[in-house]
Amino acid sequence: MKIVCLPGDGIGVEVTAAAREVLAVLAPDLELEDHPFGGAAILASGTPFPDETLAACRQADAVLLGAVGLPRFDAADVRPEQGLIALRKALDVYANLRPSRQGPVDLLVVRELVGGLYYGPKGTRDDGTVFDTLEYHPSQVERIAHRAFAIARGRRRRVTSVDKANVLETSRMWRRVVTEVAAQYPDVELEHVLVDAAAMQLVTAPERFDVILTENTFGDILSDEASAVTGGLGLAASASLGDGGPGIFEPVHGSAPDIAGRGIANPAAMLRSAALMLEHGLGRPDEARRLDTAVDRALERSPTPDLGGTATTAGAVAAVVEELRR
Ligand code: NAD
Ligand code: IPM
Ligand code: MN
Repeated sequence: MKIVCLPGDGIGVEVTAAAREVLAVLAPDLELEDHPFGGAAILASGTPFPDETLAACRQADAVLLGAVGLPRFDAADVRPEQGLIALRKALDVYANLRPSRQGPVDLLVVRELVGGLYYGPKGTRDDGTVFDTLEYHPSQVERIAHRAFAIARGRRRRVTSVDKANVLETSRMWRRVVTEVAAQYPDVELEHVLVDAAAMQLVTAPERFDVILTENTFGDILSDEASAVTGGLGLAASASLGDGGPGIFEPVHGSAPDIAGRGIANPAAMLRSAALMLEHGLGRPDEARRLDTAVDRALERSPTPDLGGTATTAGAVAAVVEELRR
């Protein structure tokens, strides 16, 4: 099985190296191949997403991605993040699964990933007005809703659809389509919550959620929030899936310029993303479970600074490897 690794920038490079080390022990038959992406690719060839990288991703069984983004490109016309947006679209990975688990909290954000504000027409008018456009076709809502309800059947059978239907036309359509899809899953309970209230409830009562189904931008924001109430971004993993074709597996966090290069990034979010890859991307659930268990145990012994500990990335990786060899 061939895995394309896109280390990207900042701590993306550091946590991808960590995943490589751990996978070499856990699943030595996997072929891992690095390709340029993000800011590193802009510096090397002027584009964040070279054609060669796209071709390799299409051929792969799965894509394991670190993170992109470098402060020097924040105000540039060509930016690392554009590569990420284009990659997700090219592979049509519309279902972004972002699990959060800690204590009584066990929720899954199902974020629509290839539509909405990120992909609508954008630009500048003659008078200087700048615009982004929030658009959804009902078929885009339908397919992500089906995915969320199907997943809920394997969990606590409760879907919270999050929208802004008191204001937005797209949300009113979203709510109608989700309600229609829900009729095909009578064993799954559906509720609709407005996004501002959902953001509040995520902080005050996160344990009330099972599956949170939402559009691209709301899902981006709510998934960082969900990670914050369950241990932080250093732990939050994600899987981005389409209908067949390779999935993309990446931490929820970014390139963390504030700690990049210091060897203290928590590798857990990336290792849990690798576990999601083993499970959803490669059909190897036993290894996925072994990896998740090893990460949990290693973090207890060797927490990184974001968790209040003193372990380095290398120290945390060594602890995971030790757990795997046990
Ligand atoms: P960030 O997620 O990179 O960092 C937010 C905070 O969380 C920082 O204080 C950082 O140190 C901390 N953090 C994140 N991951 C951590 C880890 N594994 N271990 C310990 N601490 C961790 O978000 P940001 O600072 O807003 O963005 C930085 C850059 O990353 C931007 O260019 C942004 O566009 C990009 N970004 C990329 C992705 C991605 O590639 N998927 C996701 C989010 C942000
Ligand atoms: C994420 C990131 C990306 C997003 C950015 C870097 C384009 O924040 O994966 O959550 O907004 O989707
Ligand atoms: Mn984000």
